[in-house]
Amino acid sequence: MYKLLVNGGKRLAGVVEISGAKNAALPIMTAAILSKGVSTIYNIPDLKDIRTMSEMLRILGAGVSIEGNSMTINTEDLSSKEAPYELVKTMRASVLTLGPLVARFGYAKVSLPGGCAIGARPINLHLMGLEKMGADISLSQGYVIATAKRLSGATICFDLITVTGTENMMMAAVYAKGKTVLENAAREPEVVDLAEALNKMGAKISGAGTTVIEIEGVDELRPLNHSIIPDRIETGTFIAMAAITGGDVLIKGCRQDHLTSVVEKFRESGVTITEEAGGLRVVGPKRGMIRPTDITTTPYPGFPTDMQAQFIVLMTVAGGVSLVKETIFENRFMHVAELCRMGANIEIEENIAMVRGVERLFGAPVMATDLRASASLVVAALAAEGQSVIDRIYHLDRGYEKMEDKISKLGGDIRRIKE
Ligand code: EPZ
Repeated sequence: MYKLLVNGGKRLAGVVEISGAKNAALPIMTAAILSKGVSTIYNIPDLKDIRTMSEMLRILGAGVSIEGNSMTINTEDLSSKEAPYELVKTMRASVLTLGPLVARFGYAKVSLPGGCAIGARPINLHLMGLEKMGADISLSQGYVIATAKRLSGATICFDLITVTGTENMMMAAVYAKGKTVLENAAREPEVVDLAEALNKMGAKISGAGTTVIEIEGVDELRPLNHSIIPDRIETGTFIAMAAITGGDVLIKGCRQDHLTSVVEKFRESGVTITEEAGGLRVVGPKRGMIRPTDITTTPYPGFPTDMQAQFIVLMTVAGGVSLVKETIFENRFMHVAELCRMGANIEIEENIAMVRGVERLFGAPVMATDLRASASLVVAALAAEGQSVIDRIYHLDRGYEKMEDKISKLGGDIRRIKE
């Protein structure tokens, strides 16, 4: 097991390159299931979750090879249509195999993901969509079994906005007979990237990025050839680091149009963010000049829940009181207790955290509990006075490529130690 050892108080400065988006790469990898042949994906981030999804595809019989940030996936003959519990329980995004398997083979046996640290996260809406398209859904020993001779186009209205639910149904519909309409669809950039990848394969998808997505069924798709969009959450995480250390960082290879609500909130708190050299130049306010700012997490294009933990850290040293409301997941404040151990003053009332700004944070041994919580602890440790040791950083490795290398290049004093 590894830990991160951080000596805080260093101002970050320099240039950082953003990696490909984890939450675009995962569904696009499963889209390869829809075609027979060798698919190629570029700008894939080197992450634990990507390796887990590669393992998932290999279990289905695909040949997966990774060269740096490029991946080929050979789906000539898939020998299995089953996503086993042992794997799905380690990464719930494996449920993204459901739609493609049913679409291509008319059969899928996928373990129900079970809950996770941040909430119950059921997949009832994924199953509702498949049933609407004519699939027969049964549950047995923790697995969902979906069968369909051929899916038929249907109108599916999601009563909750679901990112992977939208992605699963988009993929399920590509071979369905007739037209499928997804209403109240998720509008995340990762949904749009998946639609673009599928259309390059020969799918007929329109409306991605809006709340209504239409998919015309086709008979065959050619293999995938696509480059993944940059990771907007990694970008926001580096904005938070530059902001809280009073730094001056040029974030390259990011898509500022995917971050409008996040950039607006950081600017509201006193951070200077300008477009420069095809990226974002972030200059943090002087110590004590961070303005308290309220946020509410909502589906895209609102403030993303995946940035809540990182933003709350900046508010812990703002000059006043900030309210942070989490509306997407029922248990996404587990980083708060760890931040309070570093001297933060945060009180939680149901899904609202009230953050009273303090002078500064102090280093401490802390423990990561989930992916974005672990990122928030790194942000806090970089700003804190003194040394922090962050435990259980396997959470961090799920979603951030070479995080400590990128931070060290910016002058941060951080290194991985074996416990
Ligand atoms: C995706 O998860 C992301 N993961 C999450 O990122 C992200 O936090 C989340 O969207 C919200 O933006 C990937 O894209 C791989 P949802 P997903 O379905 O699709 C409820 C990270 O840090 N719901 O949009 O699983 C659900 O419980 C991860 O990278 C149902 O009730 O989230 C939640 O409260 C964490 N029934 C809400 O909807 C369903 O059938 C939104 O969930 C589906 C969802």
